[in-house]
Amino acid sequence: MFPIHRNRRLRTNDSIRALVRETVLTPNDFMFPMFIAEGTNVEVPILSMPGIYRRSIDLTVKEVKELWSLGIKAVNIYVKVGDHLKDNTGKEAWNPDGLMQQAIKAIKDAVPGMIVMPDVALDPYSIYGHDGIIKNGDVANDETVAALVKMAVSQAEAGADFVAPSDMMDGRVIRLREGLDSAGFQNVGIMSYAAKYASSFYGPFRDALDSAPKEADTSASSVQVPPKDKKTYQMDYANRIEAIREALHDVEEGADIVMVKPGIAYLDIVREVKNAVNVPVSVYQVSGEYAMVKAAAERGWLDHDKIMLEQLYCIKRAGADIISTYFAKEAAILLNE
Ligand code: PBG
Repeated sequence: MFPIHRNRRLRTNDSIRALVRETVLTPNDFMFPMFIAEGTNVEVPILSMPGIYRRSIDLTVKEVKELWSLGIKAVNIYVKVGDHLKDNTGKEAWNPDGLMQQAIKAIKDAVPGMIVMPDVALDPYSIYGHDGIIKNGDVANDETVAALVKMAVSQAEAGADFVAPSDMMDGRVIRLREGLDSAGFQNVGIMSYAAKYASSFYGPFRDALDSAPKEADTSASSVQVPPKDKKTYQMDYANRIEAIREALHDVEEGADIVMVKPGIAYLDIVREVKNAVNVPVSVYQVSGEYAMVKAAAERGWLDHDKIMLEQLYCIKRAGADIISTYFAKEAAILLNE
C-alpha cells in the first residue's frame, strides 16, 4: 500500500481541521500592557508602536472597560512619570498617591473583575533608566529588592491583584512574598518575569516610557553608572539552561505564574520552561515584536491579521498559558467574530 499514511485526511476541510485542532486561542488568554501618562484627557501615540498610546488615567479607564467587554481579563500597567520624580532611590515607586497607585485604584473601581498586574521595577522612576538602585557602577541587588518590596506593597494597598516583578534581581520573589504576606496581602499573587532576556526587542517600550538606560551625567552626581544596557541582570540570549534555573528558583520562592520574555524568538525557552514547572507560564510578546508586524503590514509585505493570529497561536502552542500582547484588543475582536 502506498502511501502507508494519508495524514492529509485530517486536513481535508475546515470542519475536520476544527475537530482535530490542538490549540485553542480565546480573548481569555490575553493580558494587555498599558502605558499610563500624567494629566487628564491625554492620549499620546507611541510612534514606534502604531495603535498603542500612552493615556492618562481617565482615558485608560475607558479603554479598560472596552477590553473587558471583549473578554480580556487582565492588564499589565506601566507608568511614565515626570523627570522631577526620578532619582536613584526610586522612592516615587511607593508613593501612595503616585501615578501607578492612582491608576490601579481607578481601574479596579471601574472594572472590579479586571485583574490588574502592575510592573515592579524601578526603571520608570530611575534617573539612570535602570531597574534598580545604582551603586559602584552596577544595580545593587539587595538594596533594590528592599525597594521593590515597598513598591509592591504599595501597589497591593492600591488594589493590585498581582504584582509582576520585571527587574530580574536575585531573591526578589521570596522577599516580595514575605513582604506582601506580612502586610496582610496573602491573596495578592506574584507573576515573576522569570526568564527575561537582555533583548533589543524592548526598544519601542523604552520609547513609550522614555526609560532607556541613560548615559552617565557626571556633573550631577558622583555615582558611577553602569553601561547603557541591562546585561548584568537580564539574561544572555545565547543561554537556555539558565532560563530553567531562573524559572525553578522563582517557583521555589513562591511565584504563582512565571513569565518568559520576549516571545516569538524564544519559543524553545517557553516550551522548556513549560515542561519544567508546575505553575502557569505567561509569555510576553514584546514591543519590538509588535512593531515588526505593524511595519511590515504597513508596507503591504505581510498580512497583518493573519500574521498576528499565527504568532499568537504559535506562542500558545509552544506552552504559553497566558500571553501578554499589544495585539490583545485587535486579536480579541477578530476571535470574537
Ligand atoms: C522594565 C520593562 C521592560 C519591558 C517590560 N518591563 C523594558 C526593559 O526591561 O528594559 C519591555 C516590554 C516590551 O518591550 O514590550 N522593567
